[in-house]
Amino acid sequence: MSLGNNEKKMLRCMRSKQENIWTLKELLEITQWNDQVHVAGAGKSLDENEFVETIEKHMKFITLGTEGLKATENNLLEKRIWDWILSQEENNRTMDELFKAGFERHEVGPGIGLLKSLGVSIEKGIFIFTNEEEITGKISERVRFIQALSVGKISFEELDSELVRHFSGRKNLINIEEYTVREWKLTEKGINIPDKDLEEIELIGEITPEFLQKEGWENASYKEFDINADTPIPVGGRPHPMQSLIERIRSVFLEMGFSEIEGNYVQSAGWNMDALFIPQSHPARTMQDTFYLEEPEKIDIPDEMLDLWASVHESGHDTGSLGWGAKFDKEESKKGLLRTHTTVNTVKYIAENPDNPSRVFGIGRVFRQETIDRTHLPEFHQIEGIIHEPNASLPMLISTLKTFYSKMGYPDVRVRPAYFPYTEPSVEVEVYWRGKWLELGGAGIFRPEVTEPLGSEWPVCAWGMGLERLAMLVLELDDIRELYQPDLERLSRMPIL
Ligand code: PHE
Repeated sequence: MSLGNNEKKMLRCMRSKQENIWTLKELLEITQWNDQVHVAGAGKSLDENEFVETIEKHMKFITLGTEGLKATENNLLEKRIWDWILSQEENNRTMDELFKAGFERHEVGPGIGLLKSLGVSIEKGIFIFTNEEEITGKISERVRFIQALSVGKISFEELDSELVRHFSGRKNLINIEEYTVREWKLTEKGINIPDKDLEEIELIGEITPEFLQKEGWENASYKEFDINADTPIPVGGRPHPMQSLIERIRSVFLEMGFSEIEGNYVQSAGWNMDALFIPQSHPARTMQDTFYLEEPEKIDIPDEMLDLWASVHESGHDTGSLGWGAKFDKEESKKGLLRTHTTVNTVKYIAENPDNPSRVFGIGRVFRQETIDRTHLPEFHQIEGIIHEPNASLPMLISTLKTFYSKMGYPDVRVRPAYFPYTEPSVEVEVYWRGKWLELGGAGIFRPEVTEPLGSEWPVCAWGMGLERLAMLVLELDDIRELYQPDLERLSRMPIL
């Protein structure tokens, strides 16, 4: 066992007077430590290693309580009543007279109890006693006891135990204080330990690159580490829960062989809606639902594209559809807006790559004029994806989504018939969570009205789902706003996904 520097110092000091039994005060003086914790700590480990012996003394002191302090001024209650009784004519020693003499009601009750226990009795309302001297003597003893304590605390042993017991039974007259006092004494082992073992050694606490580059680190002594000691949990940075969820989704799709695509927030109504065969009269296209922009107010779209969409919307072009029948407004198509869904990205991707089979996904922010509440935000994220290839089919779409959700930890997925202007068939995707089916998004096969103007001849499996919905589910939130409030405390408690 190697002694620490504090232990060595304490031992060296104690060896200067080997025969001493050292008190805390003496040790503080000789070591010049200003904190008794050092003496206690070094003493404890020296004792454990048998260099010193700790002598513990349990001390008990008596001090005056609040009532006891009052008694030093006003005298003890029994003394005051007794003095009054003795000062009265025998037939005047009545309760009534006692009250008249100024004793309070709350004093008289306990006071009489005390006198009775000393041998006073009451007959026909008059205080009677036979042993005046004895009572006076006992009361004087009590008075002396209190007076002695008025100077300061007195050790239990020095006091009359009978009186201590008596006063302990009375409320707040005295307090009993108990201490343990330690003293330290050298053992044979402590006396005989060679001086050289008590030399102070510089202990290295911090190991720095500079220190390791110098000579001497091989033979240095190092401070011991207690690897089991409690330490504060460092609060450092961490990814926002939404960011880690996005990362996880990204890695699942990449693992499933999809490539990631991106797009801008600012889009034209043409690409965001017309390309998707959303009728220009559709209610979701109004200002109540969509953020239209003043800057850019219009976005250019190639004329060929506008002609195609006009033809499809008005009469179905040659897609086999009848179209919507209404007049198509090309100026409406050019309106600038904040994208309302990420389907605009996948549609543009098909237009740019009509002949290449592809499996792509995108994660991005979308914007809708929503009133903020527990489940709605005007700005949220969608996960979008397509499979664009000759054999794309509804079963392929469904099994792809099932695979995705089960990799995310939700193996129970079902689809229900739904409607979107741009898919046929259309489905709603639901996952089972805590006894409930929760709707997470929409999917379907793009209609020919969508794909043919883009130049594609293959079916397209397409889906889009809300990310915040999924986040609420995995983070077990019941208010979507919690995700975006700058409450670092709460965010740091959310699980890392
Ligand atoms: N765009 C739809 C939405 O925002 C989801 C969807 C995407 C539906 C692709 C079908 C196909 O809810």
